[in-house]
Amino acid sequence: MRAPGLKRRLAIWLFGVLSALLVVDAWFSYSDALGAANQAYDRSLSASVKGIAERVYATESEVVVDIPYSALELFEAGSSDRLFYSVGIPGEAAITGYEALPLPENIVTNSPVFYDGIYKGQQLRLGALLKPLYRQEFPKPVMVIVGETINTRQEVVQHLFLREVARKALLIVVALAVALFATMIAVQPIDNLGQAIRERPEDDLTPIEAVDMPHEVKPLVDAINLHMQRIGAMLEARRRFITDAAHQLRTPLAVLNTQAEFALRQQAAADMRPAVVALHRSLGSAIRLTNQLLSLSRAEPINGLMVARQPVDIAALARDMVVELLPLAERKGIDLGFEGATTALIVPGQAVLLRELLSNLIDNALRYTPAAGIVTVAVDLAEGPAARARIRVIDNGPGIPAQFREQVFLRFFRLDGGDYTGSGLGLAIVREIVVGHGGEICLADAPGGQGLQVEVGLPLAEPPA
Ligand SMILES: Nc1ncnc2c1ncn2[C@@H]1O[C@H](COP(=O)(O)OP(=O)(O)OP(=O)(O)O)[C@@H](O)[C@H]1O
Ligand SMILES: [Mg+2]
Repeated sequence: MRAPGLKRRLAIWLFGVLSALLVVDAWFSYSDALGAANQAYDRSLSASVKGIAERVYATESEVVVDIPYSALELFEAGSSDRLFYSVGIPGEAAITGYEALPLPENIVTNSPVFYDGIYKGQQLRLGALLKPLYRQEFPKPVMVIVGETINTRQEVVQHLFLREVARKALLIVVALAVALFATMIAVQPIDNLGQAIRERPEDDLTPIEAVDMPHEVKPLVDAINLHMQRIGAMLEARRRFITDAAHQLRTPLAVLNTQAEFALRQQAAADMRPAVVALHRSLGSAIRLTNQLLSLSRAEPINGLMVARQPVDIAALARDMVVELLPLAERKGIDLGFEGATTALIVPGQAVLLRELLSNLIDNALRYTPAAGIVTVAVDLAEGPAARARIRVIDNGPGIPAQFREQVFLRFFRLDGGDYTGSGLGLAIVREIVVGHGGEICLADAPGGQGLQVEVGLPLAEPPA
């Protein structure tokens, strides 16, 4: 599913908020329109009520009502409304007009009031006036009520209301369109940026220039440039690695070729044999070199790329490696031992690479330590702010002079001396693996003073909560 675009998000938000505002506003508009219509039409109603009230008077024996035609005519002309009136003393039968018109709730003499009511199923707007008769015979005042149906009022209200709402709805539509157009313009530089990147040649990793870009887009451009820089560095490292590897493989292959030629030149099978033995030995180192190059190329990318990590018990792994290499140590008369953790020490990592790490370190110790030496592999928990697994490989061989302790990590770097011809890749591989696992490595003198101690710290897995 595609994430909603900026335009859609904006549209949904704006539309929602503005519509809610429109509804609230419509409610106010309606009551305003109703107020305005009532104010206008109540005035006519007031005139009618007063006109009738003026013509109500009392004689000694009766109350006389002389309805002026004009009071009612005011409404009838050209109107779709019906008019109802009544004159009478409250609580008694009507003197004239309709019976039982709705009565006002609060009324004082001589001041008209207006109110809504229902008469025979019709909604009415009514005006009422209480008129005192000022005669002893008729102490109670007369109530004049005039009511009209509200068709005209409703038409006016509807007209006012709809016009108001339509005007505001139009405003909302215009605002939405403007906002969408504005986002379209604002997003344009990002589209352009994408287009520019797509159109680049495949191998062009030069930084993108952020000219004509709004400054809000600059962080994105910077991030892309940073990313391209990283990819560039990785490609460069790859390229260097392949050149080095090719260079390093060329020599042993040439040697193999020479040895094979030499073997072929021998006429007697017995003469051929030592040549084939030498060829076999060289082939063995070539295979080891090739394997090392492959494991280096496997370890390198874990620095830059995410790798799936599994929990690995580094203590058990180290113990197994020691057991595995015991025969090799015995052949050289070296006392190889394991020390430390019998409980599991779990680090998140890749077992194959961690094995490679241990085997390279132990292999070095066994190779460079003279016969009858001592090599110890120790694994324990290093206390500190962040708990780490500490792996130490200690030998009592020649050690590495302090000034070379950085350089030995470089690819193909070897120290003179010793008859063994390695390729100088072991520690480079070890460091790649350590870094890839978020750990650190440190070379030091062995605790006894004679020999080398290689110490590796690896972050432990989070203990399960
Ligand atoms: N335990 C050690 N004691 C003394 N010198 C060592 C020890 N470990 C490594 N070195 C020195 O560091 C150099 C680099 O070691 P590294 O393991 O990288 O390469 P290498 O052992 O020569 O070749 P390989 O690629 O076969 O391992 C070695 O040539 C050696 O001189
Ligand atoms: Mg080595």
